[in-house]
Amino acid sequence: MSADTVDPSRRRFLNWTAGVVGAIGVGYAAVPFIRSMAPSASVEAQATETVDLSKIEPGQRITIQWQGKPVWVIRRTERMVESLDSEELVAQLKDPDSGASEQPDFAENAYRSRDPGVLVMVAICTHLGCIPSYRPEPGGEFWSGAWEGGFFCPCHGSGFDLAGRVLDGSPAPRNLAVPYYEYLSDSRIRIGKPRG
Ligand code: FES
Repeated sequence: MSADTVDPSRRRFLNWTAGVVGAIGVGYAAVPFIRSMAPSASVEAQATETVDLSKIEPGQRITIQWQGKPVWVIRRTERMVESLDSEELVAQLKDPDSGASEQPDFAENAYRSRDPGVLVMVAICTHLGCIPSYRPEPGGEFWSGAWEGGFFCPCHGSGFDLAGRVLDGSPAPRNLAVPYYEYLSDSRIRIGKPRG
């Protein structure tokens, strides 16, 4: 019997069998992907990270991994802090008061931090998740408006100020996220909340 002359009920059975085998295959293929989306035990264990601020120079940025995400810690200079109050800058911001952005209550201010001199922020663009570059100097040629220093996402051209507030004209909808953190001493912070 050729393929063209297979009995219709047998064809339905063959189709059904192929469908089930295919579904099982997809199921097996999906398991590693779904597993990879769940946080691993080692990531779960990193509920908190401690950072020694005394090792960071003024203007310097360090990157740590926290809960599987890159997080920046930056010691802002006086100039950087002052730039955040610039009227020209504030007029360019999409969400200057961070009302639509993600941060703990203590960071809902112009500096988006506990201490104006220290910025702690998740280094993931709120548009499609690229990692922005750190451009701390004023006057960047890559940005058409006033640039007081900040972060620039090269994927689709979003700009953020030195508090991670998104600039108008950027595709990113919100300011960069600030994680929960607290001071353990004058020079040590702990990012994240300890369990229990
Ligand atoms: S991912 Fe940053 S601008 Fe698109």
